[in-house]
Amino acid sequence: MSATTSEEQSFSPGLAGITAGETAIATTHDELRYRGYPIEQLAEQSTYEEVVYLLLEGELPTSEQLAAFKTDLIARRVVPEQLWALIHLLPSGSNMMDVLRTSVSFLGSFSHGGPKEAARDVVAKLPTIVAGAWRVLSRSGDPVVPSHDLPHAANFFYMLRGKVPPKEDLRVFDTSLILYAEHEFNASAFAARVTVSTLSDLWSGITSAIGTLKGPLHGGANEESMRMLQAIGTPDKAESYIMGELQAKHLIMGFGHRVYKNGDQRARILKECMTELGVRWHETKWAEISQIVEDVMAREKHLYPNVDFPCGPTYYLLGLPIELYTPIFVMARSAGWSAHIIEQLEHNRIFRPNSQYTGVERREYVPIDKRS
Ligand SMILES: CC(C)(COP(=O)(O)OP(=O)(O)OC[C@H]1O[C@@H](n2cnc3c(N)ncnc32)[C@H](O)[C@@H]1OP(=O)(O)O)[C@@H](O)C(=O)NCCC(=O)NCCS
Repeated sequence: MSATTSEEQSFSPGLAGITAGETAIATTHDELRYRGYPIEQLAEQSTYEEVVYLLLEGELPTSEQLAAFKTDLIARRVVPEQLWALIHLLPSGSNMMDVLRTSVSFLGSFSHGGPKEAARDVVAKLPTIVAGAWRVLSRSGDPVVPSHDLPHAANFFYMLRGKVPPKEDLRVFDTSLILYAEHEFNASAFAARVTVSTLSDLWSGITSAIGTLKGPLHGGANEESMRMLQAIGTPDKAESYIMGELQAKHLIMGFGHRVYKNGDQRARILKECMTELGVRWHETKWAEISQIVEDVMAREKHLYPNVDFPCGPTYYLLGLPIELYTPIFVMARSAGWSAHIIEQLEHNRIFRPNSQYTGVERREYVPIDKRS
């Protein structure tokens, strides 16, 4: 179906090309910028905590503001014990996105502050939930108590594995969190905004967003891209694998984008990190396979990688379990979602679009004994 326009209404499947609201948080026009700052500069020079501050408060922090903000996030890392009791009730092997959605919804009952307080809580607690729930549900141990001094990225690894990786690896991970932190009016941010436009609370908005991000067309693609690279196995099999998938009309996960039709800056930044990581860990085959996949997709479909494509092998090289790639995306994006929720509540009008009716015309009710 193509877009139709009349004086009264316009209709575009998937809302493609429709401006559905205003935002001062990020733009994807020309280039991706958070609050005016180009993503390249943030990825290269800032830290995830700085970016969270920028997204939530609108400006980059001074040293004092950043120190106070980090201390506040650290104080919010611990989750109520009841959450671990809840997680123990879930079946082992549960989908981690289901676990996160349930956990965030559950934590809403423990929160009494406004959206700004809740935003900090969500950002601070999500790594604790991801790492702790993974340990419990994969039967690799009890949740690790969060550190009182490690930065956000280092603390996540510490809670997941009990130790912190080399600083070069931490920098790559932190960069990925910065790249994933915000992305304007994508499906999950929009879902969060629709939810709170009824004057519902931040926890409900984040719960909606997590459910939305779970789908493979949105967040699930980073996991799928790594599984595809594993299925390909070696560089010599890459071209024939992709040609086969395209002939079978299968989607190649991690390629294409609704907004970026000529490539995604975030993918270029993360590809560089992934390539360096591979060299450092003497495992360059993922970069080699990825390059062939990228070349074949450009040649055959004029489609380019989105951020999820290099993310798969980046997280793999960092030794992270594949099931956690999308939950880590949630950890990072919770900052952007929160900023959207706060912005929506500050300039609220309930979302209530129209639909184009395609059902039967008006007809008379037929009593049940007269129906054939
Ligand atoms: C991201 C995505 C949902 C964008 O959807 P969209 O804007 O509606 O893209 P379109 O459906 O208009 O794509 C145009 C054409 O390219 C094809 N295409 C798009 N992405 C493709 C992919 N990853 N692999 C193969 N073909 C793809 C579509 O099938 C369509 O072909 P057609 O014209 O023959 O029907 C889509 O590209 C996709 O499903 N990608 C894979 C999932 C993914 O990586 N998601 C993460 C996004 S950050």
